[in-house]
Amino acid sequence: MNQLPQDVAWTWVDKAALIATEAGALLREFYAQGVETEYKTDVDLVTVADRTSEKLLLDRLSSAFPDHGIFGEEGTRHRLESEYRWYVDPLDGTTNFAHGFPVFCVSLGLEHRPAGTPEGHDGELVAAVLYDPMRDELFVAERGKGAYLNGRPLHVSRTPQLGQALLATGFPSRSRHQNPNIHFYYEITMRSHGVRRAGSAALDLAYVAAGRMDAYWEFNLNPWDTAAGVLLVQEAGGTVTRFDASPFRLDSREVLATNGPLQAELVPLFADMFAGRNLAPLLSPAEFASQRKAQDEAV
Ligand code: IPD
Ligand code: CA
Ligand code: CA
Repeated sequence: MNQLPQDVAWTWVDKAALIATEAGALLREFYAQGVETEYKTDVDLVTVADRTSEKLLLDRLSSAFPDHGIFGEEGTRHRLESEYRWYVDPLDGTTNFAHGFPVFCVSLGLEHRPAGTPEGHDGELVAAVLYDPMRDELFVAERGKGAYLNGRPLHVSRTPQLGQALLATGFPSRSRHQNPNIHFYYEITMRSHGVRRAGSAALDLAYVAAGRMDAYWEFNLNPWDTAAGVLLVQEAGGTVTRFDASPFRLDSREVLATNGPLQAELVPLFADMFAGRNLAPLLSPAEFASQRKAQDEAV
């Protein structure tokens, strides 16, 4: 593998990158064959690819790092009392994968939890490996050593203002209607170059780290979605907080990742949006229909 920078002394990333690329190759094969979809809930999908990838990651990570814990989306709970814990998303972007939309990845984030860290309290994110098998893109970071994409250093963008920014967001599969994000999507779309909704939270964060996106926000993610991407953004020079600028935690129900300058504009905007202040007028479909009818009648 020639995708890591040659001059960085890695502690974990070199081994974990091999493991993530192996899992990514497995996903690529399943994707080419096509897989049956099952439902966890009425809209939350899972496939044999998610489960097989998680099993491979458990096997490989537990033999490469026998003292580490593993916490995986598809149910893995291995040695959680350990000082180090991998958060594993074996396939981030399952809905895309199941529909043949080629945007998904394997995401591995490592947390250091010194002895005595109570469950429910965060340790420190120390390593990130995220692999996009469709583009053969390997994003890696270790705390204090920078973030890299296929061996090249990553930096967040320098976009200074929301009016010039491209952003990303997502909508959870579960409880889709129990948050106001569709309103936020509209508000921020009206104030920026646009908001993309590509369907992989981990890749959205990696794209902020890479400067492909200027900021990203989402509600109700889980540690396996965010652990790797958050460290990538931080090591690429960006910020990650909650919507009110309070510190991000792995169990935060909110994530706001920015290139830095946009944080100052987005935090007050989120406060306004939650309070219903200064909102851009949005026609209801019924109002639009009557406007449309009036225009038709006028010609
Ligand atoms: C989902 C993706 C999606 C996000 C959802 C996640 P999954 O993860 O990251 O972009 O909007 O909230 O649940 O289920 O494909 O691993
Ligand atoms: Ca996920
Ligand atoms: Ca997943």
